[in-house]
Amino acid sequence: MHVAPLFLAIGLAAALDNGLAQTPQLGWNTWNSFACSMNETVILQAAEKIVSLGFRDLGYEYVVMDDCWSAGRNSSGYLIPDPEKFPNGVADVAKKVHAMGLKFGIYSSAGTLTCARYSGSLGYEEKDAAVWASWGIDYLKYDNCYNQGEEGTPKLSYDRYNAMGKALNATGRPILYSLCNWGVDGPWNFAPTIANSWRTSGDLINVWDRENVNCPCSELLGLDCKTPGYQCSVMNVLNKASYYPSKSFAGAWNDLDMLEVGNGGLTDDEAIAHFSLWAALKSPLLMTNVMTSIDAQTLSILQNTAVLAVSQDPESSSAVRIWRYYVDGGEIQLFSGSLSGGDQLVLLLNSSPKAREMNATLADIFWSDGPGGTASEIQSSWDVYDLWANRMSNATANSIIEGSNNATRPINMTALGGSESVYKKVPLPTSKALMGSKVGTVKANGRVTARVQPHGVALLRLREVATKDEL
Ligand SMILES: *[C@@H]1O[C@H](CO)[C@@H](O)[C@H](O)[C@H]1NC(C)=O
Ligand SMILES: *[C@@H]1O[C@H](CO)[C@@H](O)[C@H](O)[C@H]1NC(C)=O
Ligand SMILES: *[C@@H]1O[C@H](CO)[C@@H](O)[C@H](O)[C@H]1NC(C)=O
Ligand SMILES: *[C@@H]1O[C@H](CO)[C@@H](O)[C@H](O)[C@H]1NC(C)=O
Ligand SMILES: *[C@@H]1O[C@H](CO)[C@@H](O)[C@H](O)[C@H]1NC(C)=O
Ligand SMILES: *[C@@H]1O[C@H](CO)[C@@H](O)[C@H](O)[C@H]1NC(C)=O
Ligand SMILES: *[C@@H]1O[C@H](CO)[C@@H](O)[C@H](O)[C@H]1NC(C)=O
Repeated sequence: MHVAPLFLAIGLAAALDNGLAQTPQLGWNTWNSFACSMNETVILQAAEKIVSLGFRDLGYEYVVMDDCWSAGRNSSGYLIPDPEKFPNGVADVAKKVHAMGLKFGIYSSAGTLTCARYSGSLGYEEKDAAVWASWGIDYLKYDNCYNQGEEGTPKLSYDRYNAMGKALNATGRPILYSLCNWGVDGPWNFAPTIANSWRTSGDLINVWDRENVNCPCSELLGLDCKTPGYQCSVMNVLNKASYYPSKSFAGAWNDLDMLEVGNGGLTDDEAIAHFSLWAALKSPLLMTNVMTSIDAQTLSILQNTAVLAVSQDPESSSAVRIWRYYVDGGEIQLFSGSLSGGDQLVLLLNSSPKAREMNATLADIFWSDGPGGTASEIQSSWDVYDLWANRMSNATANSIIEGSNNATRPINMTALGGSESVYKKVPLPTSKALMGSKVGTVKANGRVTARVQPHGVALLRLREVATKDEL
């Protein structure tokens, strides 16, 4: 029997052909910190900080203006910017953001109104896409509020979102298309051909874990995990997205929602775990903290280049959950995924309230390549690198925030050829800033061990030890 037809079907699975988001998009969004209290000053001040603090040079590229920017439509049906928030217009903001070497994003909803009850784009797709393109918009976050009940089947959702996708394409301007339909109707199945990313569940809030009527999901309690919900905890969003890792690929990503790092609510270990998980699952990474008052703790998490190198690895796909156990008062999970250069990513998650010694066998880690320990990887030895080992100190982070010492930056991306070429270099250089620090070696058939803080992760990169034959 010839199996070609199956391969053919897989090979034909097409992405949106706009050339964007070949790695998950990185950037900043107004919503979590400013909601409707934003304007051109807020946006431009954040953009200036993104440049001066070095975020742009690490790959954070998109500055996205969320809801509440418009003042309705003019008599020809075109959206107009709120003249008080944008006295010089939105095109002027886009121009200034571009001049800083960044890209500019906007927001709307595939409904009659946006979630904050501003004019929505349903039925106005061509006009809205055209006016955004004329303003120099590079990114659209497209929400799901006031959708007139046009959902409930994948086709209804697809048609409503495809209308905007076609309108964006028709402008001729490459505009990253970020769907925000909260996972309704399974966008991981219908959206890859029309969008660059899609939200997997309801909105994330800055809470690690909780059972909540607004966002139910617990197999243990028999609660529904399909309802998107809102105000969802980090663990809730993770546990919903963990079923669809294989659905994302270059140009088409599962979006676990914007980062809550730096917004209060999460402990240092929880914020590290949140950032690590989102990077490992190849979610877009949109910061939402107040850039003008960023603290050392937040900067040193968001600027961990060893973690960004996982997110931006051009050859890796989403890490896959290998196992999940309930332990006293919480759960523990293992995620594993391949990285460029033959490296392997290992993430041990401890969502229990106590620090734990955790372990994962090579057979578990390489389960996708050969269940039962038959894969050649399991017969090899691996050096283990801790990707958080070289998190910059608070003193270094503070010197960057104060602008007092550029030489203390963790890595000079410009010197290495710019963030793009650094992250795209295969295999990555053994720079500490990109590899973390070596913390041990696992022998053939062995196991990786790590002590993991409560609500924390160990994020490890395994690199095969060259054998005598290879040398
Ligand atoms: C812009 O928004 C910020 C934050 O809400 C506010 O402090 C500032 O006064 C606003 N500026 C203008 C010109 O409206
Ligand atoms: C409405 O806005 C569009 C796009 O900005 C513009 O081309 C058009 O002239 C405006 N129409 C009126 C009546 O103001
Ligand atoms: C529009 O779609 C076509 C066909 O998929 C693609 O080749 C082209 O690059 C797209 N253009 C833009 C601006 O997205
Ligand atoms: C590995 O972890 C499991 C689950 O916590 C535990 O039962 C087992 O004892 C550990 N094994 C070793 C060798 O540490
Ligand atoms: C930086 O400060 C924060 C807040 O006090 C703390 O949680 C964190 O552990 C510090 N980071 C380092 C690397 O010491
Ligand atoms: C640090 O870099 C920024 C941005 O390039 C620059 O404006 C500033 O003058 C530099 N500071 C020092 C002390 O070199
Ligand atoms: C980074 O490297 C570039 C190019 O080599 C150089 O011009 C720049 O001064 C370096 N920046 C720092 C802070 O060392």
